[in-house]
Amino acid sequence: MSKTFYIETFGCQMNAHDSEKVIGTLERQGYARVQDEVDAGLILYNTCSIRDKAEQKVFHRLNEYKKMQGEGKRFAVIGCVAQQEGEKIFEKAPYVSLVAGSASYRNLPEMLARLEAGETRITGLDDRQTDETFETEFTARSNPHRGYITIIEGCDKFCAYCVVPYTRGKERSRTAASVLVEARRMADEGFTEIQFLGQNVNSYRDPSGRLSFAELLVAVGEIDGVRRVRFTTSHPRDFTKDIVEAIDATPTLCDHIHLPVQSGSSAVLKAMAREYTRDWYLERMSWIHGAKRDISITSDMIVGFPGETDADFEETITLLGQVKYDAVFAFKFSPRPNTPAITMADSIPDAVKTERLKILMDRQREIQREHYGRHLGQIQECMVESHNAVRGQVVGRSSQNKTVNFVMPRDVSLGAVLPPIGSYLPVRITKTLPNCLVGEALEAEPGVAEEMFFVPAERKNQFVVLQ
Ligand code: SAH
Ligand code: SF4
Ligand code: F3S
Repeated sequence: MSKTFYIETFGCQMNAHDSEKVIGTLERQGYARVQDEVDAGLILYNTCSIRDKAEQKVFHRLNEYKKMQGEGKRFAVIGCVAQQEGEKIFEKAPYVSLVAGSASYRNLPEMLARLEAGETRITGLDDRQTDETFETEFTARSNPHRGYITIIEGCDKFCAYCVVPYTRGKERSRTAASVLVEARRMADEGFTEIQFLGQNVNSYRDPSGRLSFAELLVAVGEIDGVRRVRFTTSHPRDFTKDIVEAIDATPTLCDHIHLPVQSGSSAVLKAMAREYTRDWYLERMSWIHGAKRDISITSDMIVGFPGETDADFEETITLLGQVKYDAVFAFKFSPRPNTPAITMADSIPDAVKTERLKILMDRQREIQREHYGRHLGQIQECMVESHNAVRGQVVGRSSQNKTVNFVMPRDVSLGAVLPPIGSYLPVRITKTLPNCLVGEALEAEPGVAEEMFFVPAERKNQFVVLQ
């Protein structure tokens, strides 16, 4: 087997970040990454099983692997489907040599050595026992400006519909000290945005007892060079007022909270085992709505959970109007293996789920069309994500995590250049759409460009000249 690898990643940000750590670990072990699977000695597939469709994709891809076997290639299935299906993957796809869930990645070097020695049935599976987290200095972050740090792994919540507690092991947090060391190193390397990750990021409990979640946010926000701190995903059950207070008091903490509600009906929430009611959730919303800063709120929702009546669904729709989310990710309930909901009758026909999903998204779009209007005329700081040099258009992201499409002023000193990717600049919002903002960068006074653009030192010479 040649020491080259190809990796494909599906699923959430935790999976994306796990892949960055897996890539760093493989490179550390002397492997070189290739961009085409044809050239790879080792093909890894980092999988997701949150809904049936995601899992089907995995088995579809595994069938494609089949055609490539016999060329001295090794195959590894990692991530959530690996943990869920375990050794059954070897039966379904005998050409796979390694099956490993995320809670075993810290043993990757040892598993790779066994692979190199010719073993063909290597497993790294978790039994929800481990307290260890996967920490490595060798993370190959794909974006040089904004980077993830997983501060808490696993999930202990066991919502009735969800595979995650079975695929990611039990809840375990890193120490605040180790998170701070990593954040400081990232800031030194030029990262200006840090995003904390966790399936329930705010269930974070510092094993050393030093800092609360809100205190850790503030501590990272105070690191020199850190301009933005985000965190996702929060769980309503562990959502405390001090998180809102920390955002209010710390400008580097982004004014955005993703707090999935799943349903607006207390009866459905009970059946989902979310362990909160509509009113309890709305009380958290009132804390956020009462903040000094305009904190953007986003959510996930499931339609068609077993037993969801028209009246239950109507409560989800009225909740949309009450909260005024800036974005909602809505899904049709998908029965998943191992979960309690799989034994409940999947009582809502697919056509009804589809219809409810459409009603929900239409209503939400209306709300966003109106609610985004509050930004008209505002000046928002944007981080530059990409640009089109020919058209002179720039795509940026606001602190609230909104996409802002804007143009540079053309008739002033900086008018002829596009700002570097990863720089920050103020943009006046001239138009609002349901899913993004449109604007114009503010004119820069000669000489103040540097402060205004906040260009990380090592990237100062990367201005792109407009044609
Ligand atoms: N830990 C986060 C969410 C993780 S999964 C939380 O508790 O909010 C991301 C989203 O996928 C969930 O919020 C939920 O809306 C959706 N989801 C999870 N399991 C699902 C299922 N079986 N069917 C449909 N959607 C599901
Ligand atoms: Fe899944 Fe619930 Fe855990 Fe979120 S809190 S990952 S929805 S079990
Ligand atoms: Fe999917 Fe696993 Fe994330 S199931 S959504 S990759 S935690």
